[in-house]
Formats: sequence, C-alpha cells, structure tokens
Amino acid sequence: MNSKITLLLLLVFTQVYCFAANPEEGKKLFQARCASCHNVNKKLTGPALKGVEERHSETWIINFVKSSQKMIKAGDRDALEVFNQNNQVVMPDHPDLTDDMIRDILDYVKEEASKAPADEAPFARPTEKEPNLMPLTIYNFPFMVAYLLLVAIMIILLIFLVNLKSYEKHMQDKKDK
Ligand code: HEC
Repeated sequence: MNSKITLLLLLVFTQVYCFAANPEEGKKLFQARCASCHNVNKKLTGPALKGVEERHSETWIINFVKSSQKMIKAGDRDALEVFNQNNQVVMPDHPDLTDDMIRDILDYVKEEASKAPADEAPFARPTEKEPNLMPLTIYNFPFMVAYLLLVAIMIILLIFLVNLKSYEKHMQDKKDK
C-alpha cells in the first residue's frame, strides 16, 4: 500500500517536472529580456520574431542575440541589413544568455507563432472567434427549431383567429334569426 502511494507521488512529480521544461523556460526569458522590444507577431521597437528561424540560421540568431553590434562591426551583411531596416536602433547585448537559453526562447517563439493564424486573420474563421457571429442557416439546429416553432405558433394562431371569426359570424347569424 505504502509503496503504491510512493510510486504515485513519484509519477506526479516527474510529470510536473517534465512540464516545467523548455518553452516555458523560454517564455519566462522572453518576457523578462526581450518583450520590451519584441513581440512574436507584431513589430515593436524590434522586428516581429515570427519565422525568424527561417530568415536566419540558428547560429546566426544565437550570435546576434549575444551581441548584434559585434556582428555588425565585423561586417555581417544580414546583421547590417536588419540594423538598417530598423532605423539603426541598437539591440542591447545579452552576453549572459547561454546557447541553450536562446534555443529555449526560439522554441517559445515557434510555439507562439504557430498559434497565430487564427488571431491574425479574424475574418478567416469568424465563428471560431465569435460564435455569436454564426450565420443563421437552417443547418443551425437551435435556429431551425426556433423557426419551426414560430411557424407552428403562427399557423395555430391563424387557425384560431379564423375559427373565432366564423364563430362570431355564427352567433351573429343566430341573433339575426
Ligand atoms: C532594447 C530593445 C531590444 C531588446 C531588449 C531586444 N531586442 Fe532584439 N532587436 C532589437 C532591434 C532594434 C532589432 C533590429 C536589429 C537592430 O536594429 O540591430 C532586433 C533584432 C533582433 C533579431 C533579428 C530579427 C530579424 O528579423 O532578423 C533577433 C533574432 C532578436 N532581436 C532577438 C532578441 C531576443 C531573443 C531578445 C531577448 C533576449 C531581444 N532580441 C531583446 C531590439 C531589442
């Protein structure tokens, strides 16, 4: 009995430990060190980082994050181009970040970027973002039921009114006699 509980606890702890790994760490680093100038999907002071791993090699990115100015001064063309495209704002050096920490940040950027499309194109799938925008078609079950109910009520009301009228007429005829 006791050993079963120990095993269970061990399982829970390893699970928690696993979940605390990579992109989570990258997210914390990103928010603490990069988010003041960078967003994954929007340009702030620095460019949007979405797809950055397609624009540059991993080694290039790691070197750039550690010291972009060193690369620019060494004559790296890509670094100079990015620098010029961003009004020559200097990105501060991050010499204390290890390669693995920067990889974690990139993992987070990738994860965040893959979530983006639904948000970025609000008209692509409007009903997913705002279910109340779902168009009213007969394929919409609650609408169909409400519609049929309304039609039924109207028909019943019509029949009732017609009956009422003929009843009134009937009574009138009786009186007249
Ligand atoms: C003070 C603002 C600032 C901070 C903080 C900052 N950056 Fe930047 N970053 C920039 C600017 C500005 C550029 C554009 C290049 C330039 O002007 O040198 C840039 C460019 C980049 C690029 C190249 C992007 C591309 O599209 O080519 C990468 C990658 C990058 N930053 C990663 C990071 C990471 C990772 C961090 C956090 C560890 C970070 N930056 C923190 C301002 C900043």
